Amino acid sequence: WPALAPDIEAILRLKRERNAVILAHNYQAPEIFHTVSDIVGDSLALAREAVNVDADVIVLAGVHFMAETAKLLNPAKTVLIPDMGAGCSLADSITAEDVRGLRRKYPGVPVVTYVNTSAAVKAESDLCCTSGNAVAVVRSLNAPRVLMIPDEFLAQNVQAEVPEVEILTWAGHCEVHERFTPADIRDVRDSYPGVTVIAHPECPPDVVAESDFSGSTAMMMDFVVQKRPSQVVLVTECSMADNIAAQNPDIEFIKPCNMCPHMKRMSLANIRRALETMTHEVTVDPALADRARAAVERMLAVRT
Ligand code: 13P
Ligand code: SF4
Repeated sequence: WPALAPDIEAILRLKRERNAVILAHNYQAPEIFHTVSDIVGDSLALAREAVNVDADVIVLAGVHFMAETAKLLNPAKTVLIPDMGAGCSLADSITAEDVRGLRRKYPGVPVVTYVNTSAAVKAESDLCCTSGNAVAVVRSLNAPRVLMIPDEFLAQNVQAEVPEVEILTWAGHCEVHERFTPADIRDVRDSYPGVTVIAHPECPPDVVAESDFSGSTAMMMDFVVQKRPSQVVLVTECSMADNIAAQNPDIEFIKPCNMCPHMKRMSLANIRRALETMTHEVTVDPALADRARAAVERMLAVRT
């Protein structure tokens, strides 16, 4: 990325000056993912790694709930997000009051909350999950009924794997993954016989049912790198394929994919600005931080 070299060099220098590390989600564009990032991964890996960061500053190249989770897990650090507007349709789909309402409606039913939520919603929850550990988290509860919120499709996809538990859910959706349809998969299989189809579990269950494998973004990457299909479609955010393709030129990545407008608010220019100006700092209301942190830590304690 020769045109971007000045930003990349400035970021590398600023990271040293500020004693900062950059945590980047797998949906970040290759020019961020493969150049300035210190740690890349899925939501679960970023949470696990945030706990161990020694540097003074964490820049989260991802969306707001990821930065908030990093702050919860390592509160002594300064956590920056380059664009405060990097939200998430799932996080926007539910409030803390909604969770209190669910608890009144279903007394005694444990609440498992996807990490794609605000700290206020996490604080009302028993424990969190990500797409990488949702099945293990539900099983760890040994409960006959579980509320799994707010992603309806993730809950339904987990339900298929844990039939012994009744999973109640909420009508939240990822605006990127809800747009895929089973017809998309059938069309791609018609055009590319033998293609491997891998879908993120935020996709509707009928899309996952048409796929060969489903898992978190890290699980999708591991599957491709280990199995090395000659043609593959990653039914998820478009940068996933771009990031794997950059290091695996022998694998052909087929569309469809969709862009996440929130993830795509990150750029080398605003990462540089974040480090230059030490903005925008992500903080968590102290009145709810302890309860939210406990929900995330209970998730991290579940063995996968
Ligand atoms: P994972 O990386 O945990 O699979 O999450 C996908 C996602 O949509 C994050 O916003
Ligand atoms: Fe949220 Fe979906 Fe974007 Fe992930 S891809 S940040 S779940 S809107």
